Order: sequence, then structure tokens, then C-alpha cells
Amino acid sequence: MNAKSPWQLIIFLLFATGTALAGSDFIDDTQPNAVIQSGVPWFDTDGRVINCHGTGIVQVGSTYYLVGEKRDNNGFGIMGDLETKFIGLSLYSSEDLVNWKHLADPLLPIEKSEIGPDCIVERPKLLYNKTNNEFVMYMHTWHKAGNVAIATSSSVEGPYTYRGLLKFENGNPVKGGDLGVFQDTDGSAYLLETDNAIYQLSADFKSALSKALPRPLKMSNTEAPAMFKVKDTYYFLTSRMTWWHHNDNHYATASSIRGPWTDRSIFCPEGSKTWNSQTTSVLTVGGGPGITSIYMGDRWVDGCWLAGVNVWQPLVMEGDNLSLPNFHPIWTINLATGSWQDVADSGTVFKEADITFTGNWKYNIMKSPGEHNTASQTKDDLATVTFHGKRARIYSVVDHSYGVITVQILRSDGSSLGPETEVDLYTDSIRQGHTLVYASPVLKENTYQLRIRITGLKNHYSSGIEGNIQQITAE
Ligand code: GLA
Repeated sequence: MNAKSPWQLIIFLLFATGTALAGSDFIDDTQPNAVIQSGVPWFDTDGRVINCHGTGIVQVGSTYYLVGEKRDNNGFGIMGDLETKFIGLSLYSSEDLVNWKHLADPLLPIEKSEIGPDCIVERPKLLYNKTNNEFVMYMHTWHKAGNVAIATSSSVEGPYTYRGLLKFENGNPVKGGDLGVFQDTDGSAYLLETDNAIYQLSADFKSALSKALPRPLKMSNTEAPAMFKVKDTYYFLTSRMTWWHHNDNHYATASSIRGPWTDRSIFCPEGSKTWNSQTTSVLTVGGGPGITSIYMGDRWVDGCWLAGVNVWQPLVMEGDNLSLPNFHPIWTINLATGSWQDVADSGTVFKEADITFTGNWKYNIMKSPGEHNTASQTKDDLATVTFHGKRARIYSVVDHSYGVITVQILRSDGSSLGPETEVDLYTDSIRQGHTLVYASPVLKENTYQLRIRITGLKNHYSSGIEGNIQQITAE
């Protein structure tokens, strides 16, 4: 082997470790995961963190495909906020909405185009055009202006061919920011844009009709639009425009997509900031009385996007009234009947005495009666616990002053199952305190060590870097 510089050696070791340990040899695929967990990192069927944000979802036969933004943590400042440059989109497939298989990246940056490596590309969405037997992908692109880029493929799994900007029939490009799509039961399809704009798409879905439909909400400065239809009611969901900061998202209903729309205000408790998330899509499953629409949102972590997670919650529908009155950290859904239920964490609880803390951790009694945690503000302080079982979960106190911790699983011989997973403990929601923040993949039953590290990193909006642990469970 040629002599290597220390940097070359580090890069080589990182690469070698990743290759040697990656793969599904440690995942239990005989009894896969059965629960949807919100606000925690998800792992794919190979045990790697799912990197899919601002997602769109499409069903083909009995398979669901999830397309989203692939992100890294290389941010750059834009208009007082941070953003990441386009590194490609990601695509996953699942039969049950719980176990997701990573597929080849459907689209990568193309130099000197509107989806170049110097552009921002966000919120990809997919539609299937039956007439042309073609999947059409829409994504918000920002270079010198905000536009919609499109790509097509004859297979949902791609690869997708870039087709340039989406244009109106008169040839002018559609301008805008966050986007969503909606396909009606009659096959017609619509592009949803910032500020509640809705445009019907042409028959081939590759251009837009110039005249916008009536806007569902009167307020402007809205983004992250999503639409779905249950029975004969159209539901339009959207966030306010507060960048990566979460806000109380709104909804409107109508009995025709052409309106008139009724402003129904917010659908989550005020101040919950949509359970600390921003809407991206809604998926309806089941049939008959058991029909359930699943709210799909993003919990963004500004400046540390890899820690950003999916928040999927079952929408409560009474008549045409929509709500998410309670947050469901762990739940399960029957896709055939649409019935869902909460799942309790039945794991054995590890107490502080079972955890080895190294460094400057402090035991704190919290304001809420009976609540306590163990916290540290010192970078690289570690907390480790040995467990025997298939899955471990971590609960922490979340609030506006906490930072990003990492979690890593090691075998009993000390070798790691994979890289550290970033976990953000910041929230600006009224829902603070004891929260499920990490759930491991379902592993082959064995003895493992869970290692938590203080990183010194934080969400751009957080006032501190402290990390804390309240409880660890294993089953
Ligand atoms: C909002 C949008 C995201 C992204 C960020 C940028 O959260 O919904 O898609 O553009 O702002 O700050």
C-alpha cells in the first residue's frame, strides 16, 4: 500500500468501516418492524438512516414509493436562514409503510441546469399519468428564481429523465416555492403552490393551465401545500411561511376543487406547531368506515438536516372536521381496514444506575413533578448501556435549549453496526419534556451496547447544545 497522509488514512478507514459493517446482517427480517414512530430517525431495511425529506408518496399496486430530498449537513446562508445545495433525491419502497427499502437515487444533480449542484431542489412529488404510462416528478428548484422542474420515467423506480422547467401553455415557466400535487378521482391532476395557488395540469401532466383555480385560503405567505380527498370533500393543508421554524399549519375544505373553500383554521392544538412539524403530503388508506388519512410532515433541523425526521400521524376526521388533538409517538395501522391504534413501549426500563456516564453529566430534578434527567454540555461526553434484545429506545427531555446528540449501536465485541445517528432534542412546540427521541432498528436478538454522545451541534434555533437522557428501554 502506498504511504498515505493522515487525512487519506482517515478517509480510507471511514470508507472501509462503512463498507465492512453496512448491510442487513444485523437486521431481523424474520419479524420486521410493525410500528410507525414519529419524531425519531427511521432506518431502512439495511439498517441505514432514511434520508428522505419533504416527501411525496405514490402507490403502485400494493407497493408504496416515498420520494424525498436527500440532504447533508453542509449548509450555506440564504436570507438569514441556512440551506443545502442539491445532492440528489432519494427513493424508498414499502409494502406496509413501516419497513422501507432504499432504491437507487432517482435523480442526481445535472451541471448547468436548474437542478445543478449549485441549486436548491426541494419537495419532490410524483404523479402517474395513465394515458402515457409515465411517472412525472415535480420538484421546487431555486437558482436565480423559484420554479418547478420536472422529470419523467416509464418506471416508478426510475431512472428519471430531466425535462426542464414546468411551463404554462403560453410557454412561461411556472414560478413558485414549496409545491405539492393532487390527483382527483377523475384522473385530472393539479399542482399546488405557495400562497395557496392551484393550477390544473395539462392532459400529459407536463405543462400547467394558465388560469389558477380559486385559492383555498385568503391568507398569503403560506407554503408546504398538500391536498387530499375523502368521500366528496377536498382538504387543503398548508403551513405559514416561517422557514425551518415550525408553525401551526392550517386547513380548508370544499366540496369542489374549484371552490368555494371554507377556511377551517388550524388542525393541531394551538402552539403545538403542528406537533413540531410542517406538512408535506397526506396518504389515505383503508376503506369503508375504517378509512384513515395519514398526515405526513417534516421536523426540520436547521443546519443539521440529517437529524430531520418524519412525523406521521393518523388524522382524526369527524364529518369534514380534521384534527390531530394528541401526538402518537408509536402506533400501528392495518392498511386493509384503515384501523389504527397506539402501541405502548413494553421494553424493560434502564435506570440511571444501569447507564455508564463518562464526563461531566449532571442529574437534574425537573420542574414537572417526578421528572428528572441526566444532562451534559461537554462535547464528546458519553453515556453507554448494555442491553440484550432486539430494539432499544431513548427518551429525553426536549425544549428550546437542547442540542443534537448521536446514538450508535455496538456489538458486544465493540464493533459498531454502523455510523452514529444524529438526534435533535430541540423543540419550539408547547409539547416539551419526556419524549421518545430515538428507536433503534429491529435487530437480531443479541447483546448490544447503546452509546450516546454529546456533539456540541445544535439546531440553528436552539439556545444551547446540552444533551440529556431520561430513560432507555429495551425489548
Ligand atoms: C420552509 C419550506 C422548506 C424550505 C425552508 C427553507 O420550511 O417549507 O421547503 O424551503 O423553508 O428555509
